[in-house]
Amino acid sequence: MVSLHALVYRSQATRPLETTDLDALLLDARVNNQLANVTGTLIYGGQRFVQYLEGARADVEQIYARISRARQHRELEILEQGSLDARRLQRWHMGFAEAPQSLVQQLSQAQWQRDLPWLEDEIASSPGLKHLLSFWNDQVALVR
Ligand SMILES: Cc1cc2nc3c(=O)[nH]c(=O)nc-3n(C[C@H](O)[C@H](O)[C@H](O)COP(=O)(O)O)c2cc1C
Repeated sequence: MVSLHALVYRSQATRPLETTDLDALLLDARVNNQLANVTGTLIYGGQRFVQYLEGARADVEQIYARISRARQHRELEILEQGSLDARRLQRWHMGFAEAPQSLVQQLSQAQWQRDLPWLEDEIASSPGLKHLLSFWNDQVALVR
């Protein structure tokens, strides 16, 4: 079995994005992620993004390389990456939620593993990821 890998980064939108821009972006991203079997979620607020990706390491890296080339954002910074025991968002080829700027800021400033080297390689134990996933699970509960 291929071992799983997860990656979280933050970035800054190059301009305020309208719903139609975001829809086009997500449509494209979801088709691609499905082909690569990458799942995750994208959170947008106050012209900032935080995105979580999970899948086989080579697939996550390939998708991240593609994401880094997109012109709609800049200043990409990886907050954390590491191995994963099981997918957390297996139904989502790319979930999406708009969030208040304060929440996106909190997430990008949360404690990620780069600040907690003793957590070693397992991303699931990171407080930053727990925060992100708990926000996402609340969003999913709301739309159900
Ligand atoms: C914030 C953000 C998230 C993205 N997420 C994904 C993704 O999950 N998977 C993917 O294949 N591409 C992703 N992309 C890339 C877009 O789907 C698309 O290729 C890109 O925005 C093309 O725009 P451009 O040609 O104007 O640069 C992302 C792009 C941005 C800006």
